[in-house]
Amino acid sequence: MDPTKPVKAVKDAVESVAEKAAEMLDPQVPGSPGSAPAPLAEPTQAQPPLPPKAHQGAPDTRSPTGAPTGAAPTAMAQQGEYLTTAQGVRVRDTDHSLKAGDRGPTLLQDHHLREKITHFDHERIPERVVHARGTAAHGVFEAYGSAEPITTAGFLKAGVETAVFVRFSTVLGSRGSADTVRDTRGFATKFYTGEGTFDLVGNNIPVFFIQDGIKFPDVIHAGKPHPDTEIPQAQSAHDTFWDFVSLHTEAQHHAMWNMSDRGIPRSYRMMEGFGVHTFRLVNEDGKSVLVKWHWKPVLGVHSLAWEEAQMISGVDPDYHRRDLYDAIESGAYPQWELGVQVFPDTPDQMFEGIDLLDPTKFVPEEIAPVQAIGKMTLNRNPTNFFAEVEQVAFHVGHLVPGIDVTNDPLLQTRLFSYLDTQLTRLGGPNFAQIPINRPHCPVNDMLRDGFHQDAVHAGVAPYKPNTLDGGNPFPTPERSYTDMPVAVTESRKIRANPLSFEDHFSQVRLFWQSMSTPEQEHIIRAYTFELGKCYESSIKKRQLQCLAEIDPVLCQEVATGLGMPAPAPQTEVLQVVPSPALSQVGSIWPTDGRMVGIVVDDATQDARAVQEAVFAAGMVPMLIAAHGGMVGNVAVQRSFATARSVEFDVLLVGSFPVPAPDALALRDEKSGAGDGPMDPRVELLVQESWRHAKVIGAWGPGAEVLAAVGVLDGQGVVTAESGVEAFEQVRALMGAHRVWERFLM
Ligand code: HEM
Repeated sequence: MDPTKPVKAVKDAVESVAEKAAEMLDPQVPGSPGSAPAPLAEPTQAQPPLPPKAHQGAPDTRSPTGAPTGAAPTAMAQQGEYLTTAQGVRVRDTDHSLKAGDRGPTLLQDHHLREKITHFDHERIPERVVHARGTAAHGVFEAYGSAEPITTAGFLKAGVETAVFVRFSTVLGSRGSADTVRDTRGFATKFYTGEGTFDLVGNNIPVFFIQDGIKFPDVIHAGKPHPDTEIPQAQSAHDTFWDFVSLHTEAQHHAMWNMSDRGIPRSYRMMEGFGVHTFRLVNEDGKSVLVKWHWKPVLGVHSLAWEEAQMISGVDPDYHRRDLYDAIESGAYPQWELGVQVFPDTPDQMFEGIDLLDPTKFVPEEIAPVQAIGKMTLNRNPTNFFAEVEQVAFHVGHLVPGIDVTNDPLLQTRLFSYLDTQLTRLGGPNFAQIPINRPHCPVNDMLRDGFHQDAVHAGVAPYKPNTLDGGNPFPTPERSYTDMPVAVTESRKIRANPLSFEDHFSQVRLFWQSMSTPEQEHIIRAYTFELGKCYESSIKKRQLQCLAEIDPVLCQEVATGLGMPAPAPQTEVLQVVPSPALSQVGSIWPTDGRMVGIVVDDATQDARAVQEAVFAAGMVPMLIAAHGGMVGNVAVQRSFATARSVEFDVLLVGSFPVPAPDALALRDEKSGAGDGPMDPRVELLVQESWRHAKVIGAWGPGAEVLAAVGVLDGQGVVTAESGVEAFEQVRALMGAHRVWERFLM
């Protein structure tokens, strides 16, 4: 701390406005922890539990066997205004254990103590073996009806609305790992349909690392931290990962997607989702087609810059889950269109030379357009993370009439794996009765008993055939699940892949060639970073050989970065037709829910007007000033000490802040510059926004800040007379997501 700076003066000023700030803090800024403001003193008056926050939802109130109970969602939450034991007995004192005198030993008879501690001791359950880190939201899916000719599925009929619960995740990291690591993202959707629950358990990348599920433990063991040191967490930049993918070359395609910007999404709201495998849809006439599922985000597909992703891992490791919660709370409901690519169900299950059973291949949209069949809107946050997000259990085998699987050997293993793992993770066979997993239709199975049985089954004959329960329950052909009687070609039992699975490089090259120049640059840097983190030069050498088979220029660039010779390809580098749909560059997208950082001070005239304009545009303003509390008539969300550019999509500067009392100039850990006339933290904000190719705007004295940093005349930098005008200009540029040209400078 610099003793010459009048920190106390600032402290006093902040305290004097703190109370006023609390009153005036705009309630539209999302993130308040409770549903009511917290009073200063601990309440003394008993009251019923506070309701959930307005943007929160809970699982439908259904009985364990799917009957609507008509109860309010809060019927599943705590009841009454007094503290009780688990048996409902009121508790007089929860702060002191029962002891033999105030200095004596604790007594075994203290049931409240033992119940409290014992339950606490068992609060944790195993995290998911993969996809442990995730977050989720409730929503609704509305079908367009365009899928009616190809499937009997009731929830895909025109106008049908179906409740959904969606969980997004990373794959490699533990439950507490950072959100913005370079990884594949899970995109799992539970449709609570009237014909049973349908789960679409997909990823944000349309291809997978392996062709046969028997390799899943191998690829995951390779990607997880090293078994001796448990390093590194949630990273693929290490020897075991690259050892595996360079040897097991069918993984090269997925690895390239991970190395691209797709591996570091800006937001879950801005990701595509893919079912990966080919599925089979069956219509009323029993005719089938093959399909691939696609989720298309209305906000477009956008990514972070790699440096941003790395910084966010420290600045806000919960960045993606916060982004989803905040967007829903602020009313910027994320939406996706569900679409299908449709292929004839031919005996060879090939389309234009692409084997539809090979999950390391995708079908370019240019040769099989994605046809929209419905829209999903996520509009409610969970009320309780554990009950909903942690206990939800997805399964690719949760299918409904009209949707069937194919023989994709990866999908076939998945059909076994999910139920198996959930038996352990959720502690027994009855996890379908956990509220978030309960179907929204009648359940009449003959599964009985087991740990945590919530149903109170009636009758005496859970077997078929029976007479004692009137023969119930009855199988029926009416709207029931019918496995498509697909012909199985005469064959021999064999551990082998079809020949068509052997091409491991042509689609990787297709992806590479479909990227714009800045996107290719990012891929080169990602490979260089990841391989540069490996110790073994033999592994780098082997991966460089794989890159040579994909593209000699890519290989050369990475090799240069690694300081190693670039090998020549050993096979012919195939000519491919690029798929422009794969690039993120070139379109304009909606900007709902984007974060706008706004630097202001007491002299900024129109801070309130800019704040209102940002809200009106469906975005979230974050006011940044030298100190917290109030500046002028607006409440500050970030001080220079707490703000970091990576939190914002764009930056607006409406003041020229001289160094604040708590700025340490040359010694400041957030200083990007020297001891100049401007607060070093603001200088850093601008520098980083520039480097990460974000749109920057300024008005009034803010233009001097941009001039001082040397970016005033740069691309994607605008200035205006008023704050609202500056925002409008920034807004016009934001739809492209980044100032892509800056990545080429
Ligand atoms: C044979 C290959 C695979 C196996 C054995 C496998 C296995 C698993 C397991 C055991 C889990 C944890 C489930 C739980 O504890 O509830 C899981 C989660 C998940 N898997 Fe797979 N997986 C495979 C391939 C895939 C593929 C190809 C995709 C994408 C198309 C995928 C997407 C997901 C997702 C999204 C989750 C997280 C579900 C959630 O949010 O709870 N998996 N997988």
